[in-house]
Amino acid sequence: MKSPLSNRAVVLGITGSIASYKAVDLASKLVQAGAQVDVILSRGASQFVTALTFRSFTHRPVVTDLFDPDSELAVEHVALAQRAEIVVVAPATVHTIAKLALGLADDALTTTVLATQAPVLLAPAMDGRMYEHPATRENLHKLEERGVTVVGPAEGHLASGLRGWGRMVEPGELLGHIAAVLGHKGDLAGTTVVVTAGGTQEPLDPVRVLTNRSSGKMGYAVAEAARDRGARTVLVAAPTALTDPPAVEVHHVGTALEMGAAVAKLARGVAVLVMAAAVADYRPVETAPRKVKRGKQETWTVELTRTPDILMGVEGPRVKVGFAAETEDLLSNAREKLRTKGVDLFVANDVTSPGSGFGSDTNEVIILGRDGVVEKLPLMSKYEVAHRVLDRVAKLLPARR
Ligand code: PMT
Repeated sequence: MKSPLSNRAVVLGITGSIASYKAVDLASKLVQAGAQVDVILSRGASQFVTALTFRSFTHRPVVTDLFDPDSELAVEHVALAQRAEIVVVAPATVHTIAKLALGLADDALTTTVLATQAPVLLAPAMDGRMYEHPATRENLHKLEERGVTVVGPAEGHLASGLRGWGRMVEPGELLGHIAAVLGHKGDLAGTTVVVTAGGTQEPLDPVRVLTNRSSGKMGYAVAEAARDRGARTVLVAAPTALTDPPAVEVHHVGTALEMGAAVAKLARGVAVLVMAAAVADYRPVETAPRKVKRGKQETWTVELTRTPDILMGVEGPRVKVGFAAETEDLLSNAREKLRTKGVDLFVANDVTSPGSGFGSDTNEVIILGRDGVVEKLPLMSKYEVAHRVLDRVAKLLPARR
């Protein structure tokens, strides 16, 4: 599966902040994801990092001076602006932000931003007090109103030694935001996709839960794939060890009942619901208010009651997708679920098969449609499975408008 950044023309502008060292990692990650990266270094940035560093792994000329007669790109200073599919300024200093808000074009980077038709993404980095200053807030607000995507800054340790808001967002997270911006014209643009992920936890007492082996990876991959195809993506996540995917609205829940309530609210009127979560089918009738002591008794009997079926009960989504985790009779069980749960697609995975199901980065699935189409896919990454499922969803959507 190609990365959403593969062969995309990214102009990476770097301005003079101590956070410029993170831009080295960002450029490297972009190149590894297959993007064509053209770097523009401001004069201030050149104090922190060198053109040679970026040239070494982008294998492309680095622009440092608008009027450099030796730079082929500088001569035709709008060339990069025209070629760019996205212009990313990371880190964006308070000074550059102010220049961009004013529409100044006094160097190669600001000229490029002003001349481009491509979307622009800024990752601010500055001292906390500079970020809080009304001038900065106003400038950022103005840029956002013009359609610029502003990511961050994040809170944490600052170069000044203080803690606060001002840190540039980490390169890995920026990559997700860049993919989201590049995907804004994808086949799911204009739709909302709600995805569930992870295994719900049903408390027995304040320290013990009934749960299952779901890591959340499958659902998170669906959320990322939907985001990369332009959807507004909402993720309802049961507890997992995963970090929230960038540019996705995440709602954390614990129990099956909480997940049901969140889905009922968030999936009302949306285009697509994908239930990749492993929802508890049963929960304890009672949750002890205090930790149950080991005591003298040899056994502990817990009475369970059935949870409501979220997928069956939900009203609103135009296309509904379920996942079936099976350990036997994969196809017939999935067919039965497709029939009884009233959904459009069921994705069946044999969770006993190696590299498939719980916890793995890959999955081997069969996609069954209410239209009778059955697609048996080989083992592939969960992100790729997600795209194959969304290919089927995208085909169903036009008829459901
Ligand atoms: O999270 P990973 O480690 O990446 O693993 C991925 C996965 C194996 C969990 C995933 O691919 C998967 O199969 N998810 C569905 C697991 C499951 O609970 O299947 P089920 O057959 O019990 O449920 C069928 C469908 O009904 C599912 O879409 C489920 O979300 C939904 N359901 C189940 C119970 C319930 N009370 N309400 C529901 O909506």
